[in-house]
Amino acid sequence: MILVTGATGTVGREVVRRLPAGLRVRLMTRDPAKVVAPGEETQVVAADYEDPRSLECALQGVSAALVITNRVGGDDDLRLFRAAQAVGVRRLVKLSAAAVLDPDAVDLITRWQRTTEELLLASGIEWTLLRPRAFMSNTLSWAGSIRSDRVVRAQYGASANACVDPRDIAEVAVRALTEEGHAGKAYTLTGPEPITPAEQTEQLAQVLGVPLRFEELSLEQARAGLLERYPEPIAEALLGSARRQEAGAKAAVDGTMCSLTGRAALTFRDWARGNRTAFT
Ligand SMILES: NC(=O)c1ccc[n+]([C@@H]2O[C@H](COP(=O)([O-])OP(=O)(O)OC[C@H]3O[C@@H](n4cnc5c(N)ncnc54)[C@H](OP(=O)(O)O)[C@@H]3O)[C@@H](O)[C@H]2O)c1
Repeated sequence: MILVTGATGTVGREVVRRLPAGLRVRLMTRDPAKVVAPGEETQVVAADYEDPRSLECALQGVSAALVITNRVGGDDDLRLFRAAQAVGVRRLVKLSAAAVLDPDAVDLITRWQRTTEELLLASGIEWTLLRPRAFMSNTLSWAGSIRSDRVVRAQYGASANACVDPRDIAEVAVRALTEEGHAGKAYTLTGPEPITPAEQTEQLAQVLGVPLRFEELSLEQARAGLLERYPEPIAEALLGSARRQEAGAKAAVDGTMCSLTGRAALTFRDWARGNRTAFT
């Protein structure tokens, strides 16, 4: 049995689509009603990281689980690892972040990811780490202003990020969950090229067939926008992360995705084509 946590989220949803037919699969969510049309053999289980007993139930009979958490600074991973130890799960595949490898990345989010990686490595459970660069899907946060004003507003328009398509992360996750040979491996996952917010705006305009303008946000504008959506420590961590991008820390392309799957990583243009309706 394979368990997918975060099954309703950006990466988890794509993993569920890609798991080979015939496998016994269980999807974890706090709200099973969110899982639309699960396959006939797919189980959906209600569990919450805050409730260790629900985690043990979700992990019962599981041989491999994909671990996706998103509450920065919380103990969600630790509770899941303990439950996995208690019921004897053999393998955990953990969604982490590429930034953990950058010694200059000392923001709250990266420190949390480093700590959770260390907890997993100390758990005694077989592990694989997925360390993606920024998700291409983060640009969905531009959809509102694209629809209303045909404008993209972001910081550091000329700074490059080798962002990755969540579908590529999912493909590697499925391999790590279902194949042998991934134990003790950490995979950095990037797209095929570094791309700047201004270039992404240009490509979105071409894919959508409408003119789009890029407006660079000042630090204060960016901070004000983030504070509308996140608590201050998270907003500051995201500003720190943006500063590292401006300094060039996120532009490197990694060939791991290509060597694991035998095909090139998907481009931002591919991602935009697959998601054009979100912007229209
Ligand atoms: N976005 C990026 O650029 C980026 C880059 C590198 C790494 N990452 C990492 O990727 C991870 C997030 O992945 P994602 O974007 O695919 O996730 P996501 O879309 O944010 O979805 C979060 C998932 O977690 C589940 N969840 C949240 N709280 C839960 C709880 N208390 N109990 C059980 N389930 C809970 C949600 O399920 P329900 O709501 O259905 O319960 C949902 O499926 C984070 O660790 C982040 O640091 C992100």
